[in-house]
Formats: sequence, structure tokens, C-alpha cells
Amino acid sequence: MDDIITRQVNVDTPEYEQVWELREALLRKPIGLSLKDEDLSDDAKDIILIAEKGGKVVGCLMLQPKTDVLIKFRQMAVYHEWQGKGIGAQLMHAAEHIAVMHGYKQVVLHARITAKDFYAGLDYIVTSDVFTEVGIDHVVMEKKLTDMIAQ
Ligand SMILES: CC(C)(COP(=O)(O)OP(=O)(O)OC[C@H]1O[C@@H](n2cnc3c(N)ncnc32)[C@H](O)[C@@H]1OP(=O)(O)O)[C@@H](O)C(=O)NCCC(=O)NCCS
Repeated sequence: MDDIITRQVNVDTPEYEQVWELREALLRKPIGLSLKDEDLSDDAKDIILIAEKGGKVVGCLMLQPKTDVLIKFRQMAVYHEWQGKGIGAQLMHAAEHIAVMHGYKQVVLHARITAKDFYAGLDYIVTSDVFTEVGIDHVVMEKKLTDMIAQ
């Protein structure tokens, strides 16, 4: 969407509070959990991407470096009223671009089964059996960024 801005923030910028609220509303409250019960100290090490419309955060995605070449994408969420408009894909593409610019060669993520086909549509491949995380079924999915660069 042309009027959705995707940009990078961090734990010290005012938007981080909106990111927290979005994660809480989409990724924790529906499964009976709260970020208040989690250690979020790793957030400070992540690259935090937001999709923003008129100053309001409508989507987020966090990038967590694992090794010099591997980066994990996590906490992908778009508010219900903004879903199905390409914002999730826009965030993923922006994140991949940033990852390539930083020299990462591969992305790994833990996909909820309900979101597996979203990532599959972006060329992520399932590389694990189903496992339980935060009480729900997930699979590991991966994408080689070197394939992306070659295209
Ligand atoms: C999953 C989520 C991030 C997708 O964001 P979105 O902005 O709605 O996705 P987009 O509009 O960019 O969709 C891109 C494509 O994926 C498809 N898609 C989106 N969500 C999907 C899903 N859950 N399953 C299958 N396909 C999906 C869209 O139909 C679209 O297909 P198209 O390119 O053929 O038109 C969003 O639905 C969400 O926040 N869900 C709740 C939280 C969640 O489950 N996060 C993922 C945790 S692993």
C-alpha cells in the first residue's frame, strides 16, 4: 500500500510502546498470555520494523541476529482491520532487504501453523516437524537470502 510507511524503530523510540501493544493484542492476548510475564530484554538487540499509517503502528516485525549469517524473524503481526492488504508481505520484503544489506545469508522463523501459508507464499520452506511454542503448533521455516540476491 502506497500510504503505509515501513521503517525501523528501537526500544527507545516512542513507537516501541505501540509495537508492544500490537504484539500483546495479536500475539499474546488471543492465546491467554501476556508480554508482561516475559523477559523482553532481547528486544533491545533486535531490529524492529513497523508499518505505519498516519502515525499509528499497524504492523510490526522483529529481526533477531543469531549468527553472522543467520537472522531470525519474529513477532510478525498486523492489526485485524489492516490484514489482507499486503502489509505483512511489505514488512517481510523490507526485513529481507535489511537482512541482505547487513550481510545475512539466511532467515529462520517459527511459523504458527495458521500463518504457514503466508510465509510459504513468500518462498519460505518448512524445515522441521510440528512443535509447540507458547502453547500452539508451529513449524520452523527458512529462506536462503542468497537465492533472493541471485534472482
Ligand atoms: C499473518 C499476518 C502477519 C499476515 O499479514 P497480512 O498483512 O494480512 O498479509 P498480506 O496481506 O501481506 O498477505 C500476503 C499474502 O499472504 C496471504 N495470507 C495472509 N495471511 C495468510 C494466512 N494466515 N494463511 C495463508 N495465507 C495468508 C494473503 O492472502 C496474501 O496472498 P496473495 O499475495 O496471494 O494476495 C497477519 O494475518 C497477522 O498478523 N496474523 C495474526 C498474528 C500471526 O499469526 N502472526 C504470525 C505469527 S508466526
